[in-house]
Amino acid sequence: MTRILGIETSCDETAVAVVEDGRTLRSNIIATQTDMHAKYGGVVPEAASRAHLAAMVPVIDSAMSTAGVEWPDLDAVAVTRGPGLAGALLIGVNAAKAVSFARQLPLIAVNHLEGHVYANWLVEKAEPRFPLVCLIVSGGHSDLVLMSDHGQYQRLGRTRDDAAGEAFDKAARMLGLGFPGGPLIQRAAESGNAKRFPIPRAWLRDSYDFSFSGVKTALLRIVEQQNDDIPVADLAAAFQESLVDVLTTKTVKAAREHGAQQIALAGGVAANGPLRHRVQELSPVPVLIPPISLCTDNGAMIAAAAHFHYQAGDFAPLTIDATPSWPIDSPSVRHVAPA
Ligand code: KG4
Ligand code: ZN
Repeated sequence: MTRILGIETSCDETAVAVVEDGRTLRSNIIATQTDMHAKYGGVVPEAASRAHLAAMVPVIDSAMSTAGVEWPDLDAVAVTRGPGLAGALLIGVNAAKAVSFARQLPLIAVNHLEGHVYANWLVEKAEPRFPLVCLIVSGGHSDLVLMSDHGQYQRLGRTRDDAAGEAFDKAARMLGLGFPGGPLIQRAAESGNAKRFPIPRAWLRDSYDFSFSGVKTALLRIVEQQNDDIPVADLAAAFQESLVDVLTTKTVKAAREHGAQQIALAGGVAANGPLRHRVQELSPVPVLIPPISLCTDNGAMIAAAAHFHYQAGDFAPLTIDATPSWPIDSPSVRHVAPA
């Protein structure tokens, strides 16, 4: 049995978890900074780093005591190396290096997007099978990825401008809904008529890439044309529908074209109810979806991904640095046993 401590600080959650065998959650502690950033309408990087620094040690302590483990009970320490905010990542990376050095535990560097995918392994009874088409949609990324095995990723498509979550957040700001925007748009849309306003879809022909900036601009134009009373529910519904339509259609098409055994949703936007429903409705293969609490950033997904690096003997030296830009299909994300 392996027991891994997973540390995640890429954005605005200081998150630490203990996971057994990449599948069983022993603890999953998250100190969120959402309220602090909400008054600025988005994440303030410098403030995020300072809050991570203050929370890091207490959150590690809490994750270990909740799991009922002591240092000798752990097999490795894993950390999000990137992508994410540089200053925020640095806090987690340095904490993990300190733990690794002081406690003689192997260090495992995990790609944040890979972590999101592995949230699917934390679902009891889920049996992920390859090839797996993964839709990874978060505040910073929108990637469509073909996963042929553990640690093997081929990026089929990516966003050419805004990430899906970023588009939700910006749209929510235009509609005066607050931050983070995704859940607020979803709630507002429940009572809206998605057909009242024509919000376009960016299909980008046969490409698996995404583009959300045009959709955002279309929404802004409509908002500007309204008098004082903005029809928030109808606009939220139309906007959400456009994103769900494009994300679902491309994911299902990729699954068919690449003979996927399953589809996996991952990242904060995978918490979106209509997206979850639509993919399940249209997919020709079983769909894996983490519970909402594991879609947004957490340490458990990092520890889960790390388990498979551990099995491959894929450890990181203490010289690693935070890597703010680190695509999931970069060769250094793959499982490579040290020479
Ligand atoms: O994965 P995540 O927690 O952090 C990043 O790695 O970015 O994703 C956060 C993003 C935010 O943009 C937030 O608005 C979006 O996920 N989100 C949602 C929902 N819940 C969170 N978007 C749409 N619908 C939701 N229910
Ligand atoms: Zn994330």
